[in-house]
Amino acid sequence: MSEAMWGGRFSKTTDEMINEFQASIGFDKRMYHEDIAGSIAHATMLAKCGIITDEDKEAIVKGLKDILKHIDAGSFDFSVDLEDIHMNIEKRLTDAIGEAGGRLHTARSRNDQVALDTHMYIRRQVTEVQREIQNLQQALVETAEKNQDVIMPGYTHLQRAQPILFAHHLLAYFGMLARDFARFEGVYQRADIMPLGAGALAGTTFPIDREFVARQLNFEHIYGNSLDAVSDRDYIMEFLAAASILMVHLSRLSEETILWCSREFSFVELDDAHCTGSSMMPQKKNPDVSELVRGKTGRVIGHLMAMLTTVKGLPLAYNKDLQEDKEGIFDAIDTVKFSLAVYAQLIRGMKVRKDVMKRAVTEDFSNATDLADYLVKKGMPFRQAHAVSGTAVHDCIAKGKYLEDMTLAEFQQLSPLFEADIKEAIRPETCVRNRNSLGGTSYSQVERQLTAAKELLSAEQKIQSKAESLQVNAR
Ligand code: ARG
Repeated sequence: MSEAMWGGRFSKTTDEMINEFQASIGFDKRMYHEDIAGSIAHATMLAKCGIITDEDKEAIVKGLKDILKHIDAGSFDFSVDLEDIHMNIEKRLTDAIGEAGGRLHTARSRNDQVALDTHMYIRRQVTEVQREIQNLQQALVETAEKNQDVIMPGYTHLQRAQPILFAHHLLAYFGMLARDFARFEGVYQRADIMPLGAGALAGTTFPIDREFVARQLNFEHIYGNSLDAVSDRDYIMEFLAAASILMVHLSRLSEETILWCSREFSFVELDDAHCTGSSMMPQKKNPDVSELVRGKTGRVIGHLMAMLTTVKGLPLAYNKDLQEDKEGIFDAIDTVKFSLAVYAQLIRGMKVRKDVMKRAVTEDFSNATDLADYLVKKGMPFRQAHAVSGTAVHDCIAKGKYLEDMTLAEFQQLSPLFEADIKEAIRPETCVRNRNSLGGTSYSQVERQLTAAKELLSAEQKIQSKAESLQVNAR
């Protein structure tokens, strides 16, 4: 008979290479705290329902807490022969406390056990990712607030388009991150469903109390179908989807940061402590952080594709393919948290080069729309005004000057509607101030956005604190 915990029906031990291939202990050990918390709740329920004795339960809980201390301290010896975190812990428990340990797995399968652990792990990680999202949102708000008077060119097609406030640009990313936070809130809700009690797939013959387990582990909901409970990986796919979208946002911000700190733009300067040099070219100061975040985006998207592909052909209920859910999501969790934390630091350390941005607005034609709008306000149809402004730009380019350099006489040659106030109307500050439609780039609209951003941050904080208070601690 095989030594494995399921060895009864086997006459041979598992081949060594196969053993190594199918083991997940190398990565699923990071769910040890969830595994122990789940087992304590399960044992407590078994005793309450009269399925095991109180003495057995006491011995199990004490034994599990000892194991937790060992793993926390790094003195637990994980064994590949015991496949995964669930059997490593159960075997150690049984070695320590004897028969009572062998009763822990009553009315439970590793299929609902691993689902429980993963739900709890993801629930906790969602909260940690949200904390990092908020930190970056905070960094954007601080930087926007400190630079409220900074004007830069806004772009379309990466061509200078209209003057905007730098703060307005930063707050666009705040908005994306706010949606990311909300998306992760949705992931939390789908992770907050308790699978334990599904057994291997069909439920159990024992009179268990799933509500009691759910209450102990602070689950809001319980799976109503045992097959769904052990087969569902939606919350993992959703996490990876939310993480991919978040990374796409960070990647766009990275792309802009890389452009902005190039010599060609010179809109910002990154802190020396956040850049690296070149081994050959002495002058180099490279924006590696932004490049890496942009690069790591592909990796997280890859994990999403892998998971969708893994699940797409699976029959119900559990299949070992599902063990492949873990490495991708663990890596995605690490990547997303790290990228967010690093980016917040980068933004906080960034020097904003107000004068360079201002020059980019004045020494160009991004006020051409404002010239047209001026004529419209004096009664000219917009299409006609567009043509007049276009002609003005055309003439300026031919003469090597800008709209601001034109004399009133020159303007009036193009249209008699021009008056002395045209000079004021096309100053970048005026262009910005006048875009006062809701959500526009005017000083007061950006002020409103900042107020709304701070209100949202405190609302997010409340959600955050509630989720943190619901985390289960087995220690
Ligand atoms: N290590 C497995 C996983 O991560 C645990 C469940 C195993 N169940 C089974 N019947 N082999 O999915």
